[in-house]
Amino acid sequence: ALFEPQRRNSSGLDLSSPAVLAQLDLALAAAATPERAHPIIDGQMLDTDNATPVLDPADHRRIVGEVVDAHPAQVAAALASAHAAFPAWDDLGGEGRAAILDKAAEMLEDQRARFMALAIREAGKTLPDALGEVREAVDFLRFYAAEARTRFAHPLPLPGPVGESNHLMLGGRGVFACISPWNFPLAIFMGQVAAALAAGNTVVAKPAPQTPLMAAAAVRLLHAAGVPPKVLHLVPGGPSVGEALVSSPMLDGISFTGSTATARQINRIRAAMDGPLLPLIAETGGLNAMIVDSSALAEQVVADCQESAFRSAGQRCSALRIAFIQREAWTRIEPLLAGAMAELSLGDPALLSTDVGPVIDEAARQRLLAHGGKLRHAGRAIGQSPFPADCRFGTFFAPMAYELENLDLLRAEVFGPILHVITWESGHLDKVLDAVAATSYGLTLGIHSRIDATIAQVVARARIGNIYVNRAMIGAVVGSQPFGGLGLSGTGAKAGGPNTLIRYGVERCLSVNT
Ligand code: NAD
Ligand code: ALA
Repeated sequence: ALFEPQRRNSSGLDLSSPAVLAQLDLALAAAATPERAHPIIDGQMLDTDNATPVLDPADHRRIVGEVVDAHPAQVAAALASAHAAFPAWDDLGGEGRAAILDKAAEMLEDQRARFMALAIREAGKTLPDALGEVREAVDFLRFYAAEARTRFAHPLPLPGPVGESNHLMLGGRGVFACISPWNFPLAIFMGQVAAALAAGNTVVAKPAPQTPLMAAAAVRLLHAAGVPPKVLHLVPGGPSVGEALVSSPMLDGISFTGSTATARQINRIRAAMDGPLLPLIAETGGLNAMIVDSSALAEQVVADCQESAFRSAGQRCSALRIAFIQREAWTRIEPLLAGAMAELSLGDPALLSTDVGPVIDEAARQRLLAHGGKLRHAGRAIGQSPFPADCRFGTFFAPMAYELENLDLLRAEVFGPILHVITWESGHLDKVLDAVAATSYGLTLGIHSRIDATIAQVVARARIGNIYVNRAMIGAVVGSQPFGGLGLSGTGAKAGGPNTLIRYGVERCLSVNT
């Protein structure tokens, strides 16, 4: 039977409709009034002196808002308040918590245009990506609400001998730290927070320093939907605020999404501490491959490579980084790929005609430029998208593709719109699979083949969290494609799947001699 808890899907928008675009234009105009993100503790938006501006990555002359980082005493106050609020929130039960999360989903859908405008201006998301961002957040809220209702509402009766009753009770662990990245500033932020809350935990959330405004707006929305102010707190800031949070003895769990290096650092901090052992749910990076054999349809491979490598400016953990293409297929695919890349339009993400928006900041652009410089020496250029003059005011990086002989330059994730191609000879599929395994990452994998035996061979060997056959390898859908990787790519539990909430909760077994 299908696993499908009762819930409504997020609704879409027709982005070709003039009425919809007019509504989005109004929201974009409103986004010109700067937003402010503060520490939010007990529902109070605390002000401190050191506000810093948040700039639009597509045009640094535009200030989207400003952020006030939390200081360590505020992190401690948030944790103490969340700790005190835990028993009542846990006691509310799965049904009560689900009703609040469903309400938040409804409110978010109503405010879709505003949140899309913020995603465009704060994170450089294109219109379709901004819509996807809001839809995924709505889906996470409804999915975890449905899970709380079905699994966290009543103890599960278990068998036993006559005269004995056994029940498994699911509940929250206590206080969760939720630490999120900038590349899904609403969807991942909301996904982590919703999962932790649904399971009965209270939360102190730290968004990425590049995207605090969407997080602050999301927390205000959750409070307005009925999450008690002491149950959810926001502490904006960078790594030092993150370290103050994860090194607290008041924590009962950590949900982290970001780079593998930061997950290791959090592990090191916790390993050096005394006290109870905490679960660390870490969703991290990938060095994701697509394997293409000579039976694949060239046009579909090009469309799926382009979508997977360059959409969202390649700033998805799921994005394609290395295409392993069988030599005979490559001679057909190469000119099509180069031609398609030449047509990609880089520019203002608020325009429907834009395919690729900016990368998040100057540091990200510099890392990509440095990697591009190495590729020019070590590889053969295949394609490069044009760089329009008006992109000079933002942190844009034009998509590029290089053919390489080996993976020497690719020991770690390269986070942006750069595609690496390696060709392979017929009969050497095993070597390709060895190379994929040797990366030690295990997030996403694409396969393009019309041969069932080849697909089966790849699926059997690949230790990868999400495998996509004859389609693009990004855009996992909540509830249909639970998302998350293995190895260097994360600890699980997959986000948006039937086993997610259990990792945020505790199980207690009650046996009564009646
Ligand atoms: P990052 O690791 O630099 O930062 C992630 C979060 O951790 C931020 O909030 C950051 O401030 C915080 N942080 C940084 N140092 C910290 C420390 N020492 N202690 C505590 N917190 C700390 O990652 P990023 O650049 O924001 O995001 C991009 C990365 O996220 C990529 O590697 C990408 O693959 C990964 N990612 C993974 C998934 C997934 O589901 N597997 C999804 C999205 C992004
Ligand atoms: N869940 C996101 C995707 O699948 C990262 O693209």
